[in-house]
Amino acid sequence: MKTDILNIFFSFSLFSILGWMLEVFYRSVRDKRLVNPGLLAGPYLPLYGAGALVLIVAVSWLQGSPVIMKVLAYLVITTTLEFGSGFMAKYFFNATLWDYSDQSFNYKGHICLKFSIYWVLLAFVFESFILPLYQQLVMSLSAPIQWFFVGMVFSLMLIDFIVVSMRHFLHMTPEEKKQLKAQFNKTAKPLLELPEVASLAQYKHHRGKTRLDHVTEVAQLSFLWGQRLSLNGEAIIRGALLHDLFYYDWLREGPRFHGFRHHNIALKNARKITRLSKKEEDIIKKHMWPLTVVPPRSMESWIVSLVDTFCSTRDYLSIENNAKSAKTDAVQAGIETEDTKKWTI
Ligand SMILES: [Fe+2]
Ligand SMILES: [Fe+2]
Repeated sequence: MKTDILNIFFSFSLFSILGWMLEVFYRSVRDKRLVNPGLLAGPYLPLYGAGALVLIVAVSWLQGSPVIMKVLAYLVITTTLEFGSGFMAKYFFNATLWDYSDQSFNYKGHICLKFSIYWVLLAFVFESFILPLYQQLVMSLSAPIQWFFVGMVFSLMLIDFIVVSMRHFLHMTPEEKKQLKAQFNKTAKPLLELPEVASLAQYKHHRGKTRLDHVTEVAQLSFLWGQRLSLNGEAIIRGALLHDLFYYDWLREGPRFHGFRHHNIALKNARKITRLSKKEEDIIKKHMWPLTVVPPRSMESWIVSLVDTFCSTRDYLSIENNAKSAKTDAVQAGIETEDTKKWTI
């Protein structure tokens, strides 16, 4: 079979999906409930895609070799892949995708003799039945169709992977969450208690959310990112809480070209109620970048600007936030109370 870049991508995509189907079937029957296996949310398991690619190469190299050679080669290939994937998922994402600890002859729960034998059998099934069918399929599909399929699967996988990685990056233990909340509240409370900030709860900002909901959400998420990147948390919290400090319903009233002007209005209002550091001023002033043309000067400003865009986009895409946010109530009641069980992040 001709091996080119399209062929590599196509077989990887297709077998990632077929492998996912096989795993869903096996695990769902075993656990008597529908199970979506793997680290990613979508219908693919890249381990199977990678395994199929290596096997395609191995099958062509081992053509005409004695069966024992094939058994050994398939055993090494599949077991190495399985160990590598299990190890990497544990090491990078602290995720246990499968656990063979209860099986005899297992190594660290990642591999075991029984399943290695299953993989060898599956490799022979792949060589004898699946690969010939796959080759027929590839020959019947035009290159544009294959590229379309590859593009769809890879785009989905990439988005999926970024989301999973970010979630992992931002994940907090309950203890860490408690500490971060305390830190956040210490800085945020004096501002949130000011009537000029508390009154933002009277203004609708995005679908179903008040301006106070919005700035609190942006402050929390930006603060979390800031902590992960060792940035100035105080500047982030204060800048983010004040970044939309204006008092009009921007959809119905206020100055023309609100998007180009409200950061300056917010900055002017913020200066009236508190002393701002240079970093905090920049956060407020540049949060609408690129509309501000001049880019943010610090990483803290970049984070708040990006998180603001993310939260705003999410608000408009979300169908869940039509109800009044419970968070506003919690914030109004006092953000430091145990009532604020759930962060927005
Ligand atoms: Fe804004
Ligand atoms: Fe905003």
